[in-house]
Amino acid sequence: MKILTFGASNAKSSINKALARFTATLVPGAEIEVLDLNDYDLPIYSEDLEKEVGRPPAAQAFFEKIGAADGVIVSFAEHNGSYTAAYKNLFDWASRIDQKVFQDKPTVYLSTSPGPGGAASVLASAKGSAQFFGVDLKAAVSVPNFYDVFDAETGRIDEPSALADLTAAAETLALQEAA
Ligand SMILES: Cc1cc2nc3c(=O)[nH]c(=O)nc-3n(C[C@H](O)[C@H](O)[C@H](O)COP(=O)(O)O)c2cc1C
Repeated sequence: MKILTFGASNAKSSINKALARFTATLVPGAEIEVLDLNDYDLPIYSEDLEKEVGRPPAAQAFFEKIGAADGVIVSFAEHNGSYTAAYKNLFDWASRIDQKVFQDKPTVYLSTSPGPGGAASVLASAKGSAQFFGVDLKAAVSVPNFYDVFDAETGRIDEPSALADLTAAAETLALQEAA
């Protein structure tokens, strides 16, 4: 099954992108595609600009990537308690194509941060609004203290508790296909 993953961040060394990528490797039989938000650069959304330019190709391309996937794993970076501006902007543009941005795809939401909060605020916000955006949310996991549990050499998390939570979340996507 095709699993689309991305970190909801435009940091080149995004820890959320790393977490999403690793979690995708835990989906049995996954064919993994990793998106980089930097490839979907867009001007700041405004209704006035939308009247001028319509649907920018980058927003359309992002929307179509989700449409082509069998499942999605997104990990949210938290900036000041909320989404990064880069993700929110891309999401706002994509929502003008169709409010169901996630197109009813089975989806796992993740979040992580270097600190003990694990970006739980943005994850709670994303979970709370998932129903409005066509997200078939199968699981949500916050991973605190990212650098304490992530092995940069292997790209893996082997800390037992986090690994168990991420494995269970990843397997919900494979179960979806078997059903
Ligand atoms: C402007 C800014 C605001 C931040 N606000 C928060 C925050 O509210 N909560 C949090 O846990 N971390 C916060 N952080 C730290 C991020 O969790 C950290 O930069 C993390 O690496 C972001 O994820 P990313 O690497 O995937 O972009 C903030 C970082 C920046 C640059």
